[in-house]
Amino acid sequence: MKFFVDTADIGDIRALAASGLLDGVTTNPSLIARSGRRFLEVVAEICELVAGPVSAEVAATEFAQILREADVLRRIAPNVAVKLPLTPDGLRACRVLSEQGTMTNVTLCFSAAQALLAAKAGATFVSPFVGRLDDVGQNGMQLIADIVQIYRNYPALKTEVLVASVRHPIHVIESAKLGAHVATLPPAVLRALYNHPLTDKGLAAFLADWAKTGQQIVETVSV
Ligand code: E4P
Repeated sequence: MKFFVDTADIGDIRALAASGLLDGVTTNPSLIARSGRRFLEVVAEICELVAGPVSAEVAATEFAQILREADVLRRIAPNVAVKLPLTPDGLRACRVLSEQGTMTNVTLCFSAAQALLAAKAGATFVSPFVGRLDDVGQNGMQLIADIVQIYRNYPALKTEVLVASVRHPIHVIESAKLGAHVATLPPAVLRALYNHPLTDKGLAAFLADWAKTGQQIVETVSV
């Protein structure tokens, strides 16, 4: 499973990229607003830090203007994935961009029917929002199961399921069990994946016992 980070915070992206475990980045207009930065500049910086797909979302809702904005975004770097709304105009633009070889991420997906349309439009990624479904009393994980099952029935559909609106590590584990291709995680959730209290306790005990041996693995060189 690929891990993307869902943020426009350059500090977080730089630190997580250094882990060697980061496969891409997703942004959205709310995250850009939170960063307080110029959209095109911040996307360019992210693309320099991360080699994998970097999703940058259009603000237009009408077909021709979506394509104009997409053209600006894809010129920033070859790893930009143009993020498009799951609307008739967005999917029409998705079809055009996909045929031109531009990576696309169809966002704001809340139903299996919508995901099927995104795949038929040739989307590189579709982003079902699990957390926002859970928030309104629907089952986000069931949507992931449905989309994965539907896509598996039609191997000609190449769209990857990018689980979005992830709130906690259980969303990640359940998505991986279902075979989703990608999860985009807020930095805090990505960091939380490392944690287990028994790891901390075990490491503390090992280090305490090691100190009792008085040994060093790498000898200190005196000058
Ligand atoms: C996905 O691409 C979106 O940016 C994101 O996952 C939305 O998450 P939220 O519901 O926490 O805002």
